[in-house]
Amino acid sequence: MRENGNKAFLLNYQIMKVLITNIGVLAGVGHEGKRCLKGEEMLKLNTIEHAFLYVENGRIVDYGPRVDKPQIGCDVLVVDAEGGAVLPSFCDSHTHVVYAGSREGEFVDKIRGLSYAEIAKRGGGILNSADRLHELSEEELYKQAMQRVDEVIKKGTGAMEIKSGYGLTLEDELKMLRVIHRIKQTAPIKVVANFLGAHAVGRAYTGRQSEYVDHIINDMLPAVAKEHLADFIDVFCDEGFFTPDETRRLLQAGTKYGLRGKIHGEELAVSGGVEVAVECNALSVDHLEAMDNRDIELLKNSETIPTALPGTSFFLNMPFAPGRKMIEAGLPLAIASDYNPGSTPSGDMKFAVSLACIKMRLMPAEAINATTLNSACAMGISEEYGSITKGKVANFYITDPIPSIDFIPYAYTTPIIRRIFLKGEEYKG
Ligand code: NIG
Ligand code: FE
Repeated sequence: MRENGNKAFLLNYQIMKVLITNIGVLAGVGHEGKRCLKGEEMLKLNTIEHAFLYVENGRIVDYGPRVDKPQIGCDVLVVDAEGGAVLPSFCDSHTHVVYAGSREGEFVDKIRGLSYAEIAKRGGGILNSADRLHELSEEELYKQAMQRVDEVIKKGTGAMEIKSGYGLTLEDELKMLRVIHRIKQTAPIKVVANFLGAHAVGRAYTGRQSEYVDHIINDMLPAVAKEHLADFIDVFCDEGFFTPDETRRLLQAGTKYGLRGKIHGEELAVSGGVEVAVECNALSVDHLEAMDNRDIELLKNSETIPTALPGTSFFLNMPFAPGRKMIEAGLPLAIASDYNPGSTPSGDMKFAVSLACIKMRLMPAEAINATTLNSACAMGISEEYGSITKGKVANFYITDPIPSIDFIPYAYTTPIIRRIFLKGEEYKG
């Protein structure tokens, strides 16, 4: 069936079949059985020129060079890629897209010379977002977050992790997590939820940080677990925020409820975040702008995925995580957006790919793998997402015709994404 045929006719069939033809280059294929790519493997993008891609019931069934295109019946929707590239959707393993309003006032304070840490110390930053979130209804919070989700889907994201952490009271953390749960159920992309009660000390506990940690462990965690609202637990382990000892306690408490850690570490200083992440077998340790050689050595003997957030370094005008060095040390590297109102008000993963190339000296293939398969791995979903692999969920995008894959990070503000497919169905927004 041709694209302009009757879609209603198609929907009468139980099996949705879609054939993408005339693909200029299909990238990110294969990687069967690979949880993530490490070191030199990250250069392997695995591309097929002049390709087709065939999808049934939302899953990738076949792909290959166009000469091998399958014989199809009249129940197949044929989509002409018109020579564009097809890539697996981005997997954004670190976001805070559920938040109230915006914080451009702090942006201006930063231009005037205040640092991120100074703004936080004055009661701005995360606490500012917590105050706003407290005032907003669950419905309005959901609406604002869904607008951001829609925005990033149109920029190529097909899976994302969303953290709580702007509640900082039992009620407001649950409110955030319920909103995340609703997004999980209603958004067309894959969503995983991360409980970040330890993002900052809630106002009611000012000056009583260890009591706040007890409150998270004794009151928040059991309530979150009871409602099955989280897949992971997170801690902002950094200078001026939570200590490695507190982080260890929190991650160990999370383990009792089946929640694995994914933590913020070594953003503002070398503060022990990597060490505690490795010790507690966290799935990922994210930020790493201030990491040192010892951290790289520790990560070599672990299953923890180092995750860089280049948008944060760009926006806060801070050093970038040493991505090149981590890859040369043989580590896997994931890259995510960190979309949040304070340090990164952008979830543009294509821009993150460009920043990774320009500022962290990743090759385009490495940066694309870091934002697809490896970032899927950093949220525990790489068996089903992050590459064009038979059996995986058919989340991908078609670009305008481009001269090569390297053009993607090179044309760093050109909106090249033409069409988006999620579970094999076109997303029109
Ligand atoms: O990942 N570093 C900690 N948390 C967020 C920022 C949160 C905020 O400023 O609102 C981050 O950058
Ligand atoms: Fe973050």
